[in-house]
Formats: sequence, structure tokens, C-alpha cells
Amino acid sequence: MEKAIKSIILAAGKGTRMKSQTPKVLHQIFNKELLGYVIDALNNTGKVEENYIIVGHCAQQVEEYVKQNYKNVKCRLQSPQQGTGHAALQAYDDLKGFDGEVIILNGDIPLLTTETLDKFIEEHRKNNNALTVMSAIIDDPTNYGRIVRDNNGDLKAIVEEKDTTDEQKKIKEINTGAYILDWAKVHEAFLHFDTNNAQHEYYLTDIVKWAITKGLKARSYILENSEESFGINSKKQLAEAAKILKNRVLDKLLDDGVTIVDPDTTYISPQTEIEPDTIIYPCTYIEGKNKIGKGCKIGPFARLRGDVQLGEGVKIGNFVEIKKTTIKDHTNVCHLSYVGDSTLGSSVNIGAGTITANYNHITKEKFRTIIDDNASTGSNSVIVAPAHIGENASIGAGSVISKDIEANALGLTRAPLKVLKGWFNRLKKD
Ligand code: UD1
Ligand code: CA
Repeated sequence: MEKAIKSIILAAGKGTRMKSQTPKVLHQIFNKELLGYVIDALNNTGKVEENYIIVGHCAQQVEEYVKQNYKNVKCRLQSPQQGTGHAALQAYDDLKGFDGEVIILNGDIPLLTTETLDKFIEEHRKNNNALTVMSAIIDDPTNYGRIVRDNNGDLKAIVEEKDTTDEQKKIKEINTGAYILDWAKVHEAFLHFDTNNAQHEYYLTDIVKWAITKGLKARSYILENSEESFGINSKKQLAEAAKILKNRVLDKLLDDGVTIVDPDTTYISPQTEIEPDTIIYPCTYIEGKNKIGKGCKIGPFARLRGDVQLGEGVKIGNFVEIKKTTIKDHTNVCHLSYVGDSTLGSSVNIGAGTITANYNHITKEKFRTIIDDNASTGSNSVIVAPAHIGENASIGAGSVISKDIEANALGLTRAPLKVLKGWFNRLKKD
């Protein structure tokens, strides 16, 4: 039987360089928290049964987020923060008697993929390691812990930047801060941390030296793509990570047969599925979870805000915002419209400037709009939800519709047109 895995995610640090009231790991890329990316990457392996998050700075906020979004995650408080080893130690009591594997990693690495974690676990098991550290080879290793090897090339220790010799500073293989270990064999290392180092902190990295001294097998797993270990420490790095993630998503969609006219100005969330032969025009922003059928045309300048399902051949044009809405085949929403909390049938035509008024600011309630097959709305009409527009029904341009319109009918609210003849001459001064 496969061993069980539990994880420890380090997230107590302050994240000073973010210059923000929001804790670092709760900063978002595509409306999803950095910590969420890490927990999902672990959970999606299907092998991790429980995650312990070490919280400290803004602990309550992080705990609240975790509680609301995850079932198999527990928070453990680290106060004061005395280093990465001290952080991981906060989950020690929870793991008493556990005889599976423990993965330890940082909460600020949103680019780490499930595929890589799978390989990491596999390598660890295949080689019968007691401990495997995830490393990366990078051009500028400054500030990272260095992977130090003996003359045979075997792993010897991890040495922090501030503790390195000039010779060690040249090493380009760095510690990404992710580890997998057989808990029964390595747990004792956690009881032997000391602060005999340049930063006077308890270093988690010392588990490597401890394991080797005990004659246990410790190896490194070198990341194929070092960008996966990219940790976020500043707003600049957050933007860089967002760009990498965005390009990953676009590359995959392009490979899958979606046309993206200008990837530079197109933003599509990782949770959006798009079928082939759909065209995404420039300056389109797609957030949240969505499903888009084949042969659709989206944009330019369109925004989908999540929970959007589009059938086949749907057109979403310029300056259109869509949220929590299902739209069936061959329906057009081509210009300047807001469609929210709605269900649209097939071959519906939404005229330019149509608004579904779904929100009551006083009661804070939201209401749905339903528009059946082949109905149409005239330009500049407002549908005050809840409302149901029947099949083949029309709405006249400029109308405010606050009741259901039955199938085949015309709904129209419009002040009668007045024509005042000779108006120009009456007002004109000589
Ligand atoms: C650590 C590693 C280093 C590695 C680098 C990768 C140690 C001693 N060094 O460096 O070898 O190259 O990560 O990014 O482990 N944290 C806590 N409590 C603390 C201190 C830190 O929870 O008391 C958390 C932080 O929130 C962060 C993670 O641990 O998520 C790493 O901390 P950070 O200070 O960024 O790591 P470094 O010391 O730079
Ligand atoms: Ca540090």
C-alpha cells in the first residue's frame, strides 16, 4: 500500500517587502490566493491527506481564508518567528506516531505544479531516500541556501548565503525550500535544531546534515523548470509570477486549438476551459471558472468574471461584461452590455447597451434574468431582475423591463415622441 502523505506549509513570515496590509500568502493571481495555489498543487496529487499551515503574521486572516476554502487543512501558530526549522516544529506534535511521508514547502510559490510534486514524490520513493530536497540550478543563486556536495558528488549539507564561504557562494544549485521525508526516520532531526549560525535562527535546512550524519539516505531532486520554485517577496515578483502563469495558460489553450490573436493583452484564468476554434480577440480579461464552447468569438475588450458557460458559436463583443451566466448556442452579446446572474437561450440577440439590473443595493440581494431562445432586446434596454423574457419575445429599444414578457410578445416602455417644428429658428439669435 502507498504511504500516506501530510504536508507542512510555511507561511508565518511577515512578507515585509510586499508593503501591504494583506498577508503575503493571501495576495492573489487571477483572484486566487498564493496559498491556494500551493494547497491545490498538493491536494491535486491525490496523495496528500492533511496539510498543516504554519501561520504567524496576520494569523487570523490566513486561518479564516483556509477555513472557508479547505477541509483538509489545519493552521498552527508560530509565535515568535524564530526561523524555518522552528516554524516546521509547530506541527511536530500533530505528527506524533505518523509513519508516512511529510512534504514541507513554502506558502509563497504559486508556480509549483502538481506534475512536479508527483515526480518529486516518485523520485523520493524510487530511490528509497529518507529525505529528498527539491533543488534548482539558477544563474543568480544570491540569497538562496546552496546545495553543498562532497567529492563524490553526494549531498552533504545546505548552507545559507550568510554562512557560505566564498567558494560555496559560486554554487549554482540552490535549495528551493521544498522537502519530502520519511517522518519515522527523520522526525528526530526536529528536536536537534540549534541557532549556531549567522542569523541565529533555527534552520530547517539542518535536517539534511542531521540525516546524513545518521547514515540516512538524503538526495536532491533537481527541478526541470527552475521557475516553478519562484517565491514571491515583492509586488514586482507577484506581477512576474502572474505573467508566467498567464503565459502557461495561454500556451496550453493555443496547443489545444484556441486562437488567441494577441497573447500579450489577453488574460485567461487557469480554471477556464475553452474548446477549439474559438477566437479570443485582444484586450480580453477572463477570470474565475468558466467553460467556453467551440467556435465562439470573444472580445476585443470583453470581460468574463467567472461562472460563465458559453455554448457553441456564441459572440461576446467589445465592452461586454458577463458574470454567473449560462448562454446557449449562437447567441450574440456584441456591444456595450452587462449580463449578470442570467440564463440566455440559443440564438438570442442582445442589443447594444443592454443591461441586466441584477442587484438591489438596499437589500443587497441579487436576482436572475432568464431570456429564452430566439428572443431579442433592443439597444439601451434595462431588464430589472427577476425577469423572464419568453421565446421569440422582443424588447423595444430604450425600454425598462420590470416584469416578465411572454413568448412572442413585444415589451416596450417609451415616452411618446414629440416633434417641435421650427425649433432651430425659434432659439436662434440673429
Ligand atoms: C529558506 C531556506 C533557503 C532556501 C530558501 C528558498 C532556511 C534556513 N533557508 O531561506 O535554504 O534557499 O528558503 O526560498 O530554511 N517562515 C516561517 N517562520 C519563520 C521563518 C520563515 O513561517 O520563522 C516561512 C516564511 O513565511 C516563508 C518560508 O518560511 O514562507 C521561507 O522563509 P524565508 O525567510 O523566505 O526563507 P529564507 O530564510 O530566505
Ligand atoms: Ca529568513
